[in-house]
Amino acid sequence: MYNYPEYALKANEVFAKLDWKNSGQLPVTKVNKKTNKIDINNHTVISFGSSSYLGLHKDRRLIDAGIEAMQKYGILYSSSRSYTYLSMHNELEALMAQMFNKPVLATIQTTMAHFSAMQLLMLPGHGAIIDMQAHATLQNMILLPRALGLKVETILHNDLNMLEAKIKRMQGICKKIWYIADGVYSMYGDTAPMHELMQLLDKYENLYIYFDDAHGMSWDGINGTGFIWKHLVTGHERIVLATSLGKGFGLGGGALICPNQEVKDMMLRAGGSVVFCTQLPVQMLGSGIAAAKIHLTNEINALQDKLKSNIDYFIQLAKKFKLPVIDFTCTPIFFIHCGSQQFGLTLCERLIKNGFYVNVGIYPAVGPKNTGLRISLTALHTKQEITNLVNAIVIQMNILMEEYGLTINDLEKGLRKK
Ligand SMILES: Cc1ncc(COP(=O)(O)O)c(C=O)c1O
Repeated sequence: MYNYPEYALKANEVFAKLDWKNSGQLPVTKVNKKTNKIDINNHTVISFGSSSYLGLHKDRRLIDAGIEAMQKYGILYSSSRSYTYLSMHNELEALMAQMFNKPVLATIQTTMAHFSAMQLLMLPGHGAIIDMQAHATLQNMILLPRALGLKVETILHNDLNMLEAKIKRMQGICKKIWYIADGVYSMYGDTAPMHELMQLLDKYENLYIYFDDAHGMSWDGINGTGFIWKHLVTGHERIVLATSLGKGFGLGGGALICPNQEVKDMMLRAGGSVVFCTQLPVQMLGSGIAAAKIHLTNEINALQDKLKSNIDYFIQLAKKFKLPVIDFTCTPIFFIHCGSQQFGLTLCERLIKNGFYVNVGIYPAVGPKNTGLRISLTALHTKQEITNLVNAIVIQMNILMEEYGLTINDLEKGLRKK
């Protein structure tokens, strides 16, 4: 009775063919208050699948502030921000503006920051060039301005020659040219080539960049402002940054770091996700203010250092055991290439049985033959937990390779080495 797009049917095949129920979309029945221990179907595992990179979501101050806000205002203030809104928005945005040295708009989701920003900034007569690995939410949200007349082209991942060739071709045809990319890429944990991109910004006056730095937020940069801002610090008039409050920041929601006040005012007055959507939930505003205050102290540096030491430790072990990791950039995300969906999901299932949970990067997030274990590290992990995880991966991977008659070279097929 209903028809579906090709990619959805393909993704559905994965569910139909494999015993997915043991390795994907798993119900968590218990979460430890201090550590990364979770219970999946009442079986305790250490999770390496959380994007709360600093563990701030477990911080007492965030929890108490969220509860206090709900006690004061109720669990819901149900109104578009255009009518009346909780003044906590102003406090949160002022604290974040202090972090970024730029006006900040808090949004209900990162996706919804893209929605408003792309709708209002990327216009018919402009051109947009999007990295093929830019996050799916960017690829989805660009469809609306594209339908209205924005010219959109794609480049191979981080291919600067291709980018510049397209910029040159769009000169004269397009009034403004937008490059759209992630700061930290969510699957392989690699990053945007900031130095070269800044050079392109200097070279082309009509080039603008729209970044999504959801996975760079909090664990990197001064005051936890993220990977992109580490390279900008005081911002750039032609850079618009969307970030997430739902990963390192520890709560949920998103934010748009506006190049100037005019852009922020325009988003408030006409942004589709501001005018026509509900505002940030009460608890998130309360907890967000507490999180932003922590970002403005030295405490954030200690958490960043703890995570970076875990990252270095993982890299050291993964190299020692020659794990087929796609990219070793120093971010909290690592992708161990498994190739087939069957191998990746079975490996995940075996790891769960052995007390570890890792996400499986699977189609459509990656290519159908590029399934892999997507490991995310946090400041809450201990070195011992990381050692135990790597040992378990090595053992289970070897057992599975033997069962499947595969070698490490087979797993590495399709692996893009740095
Ligand atoms: C890079 C990136 N951008 C955006 C999003 C979507 O974030 P949100 O759920 O806040 O819309 C995600 C998803 O987790 C992401 O990884």
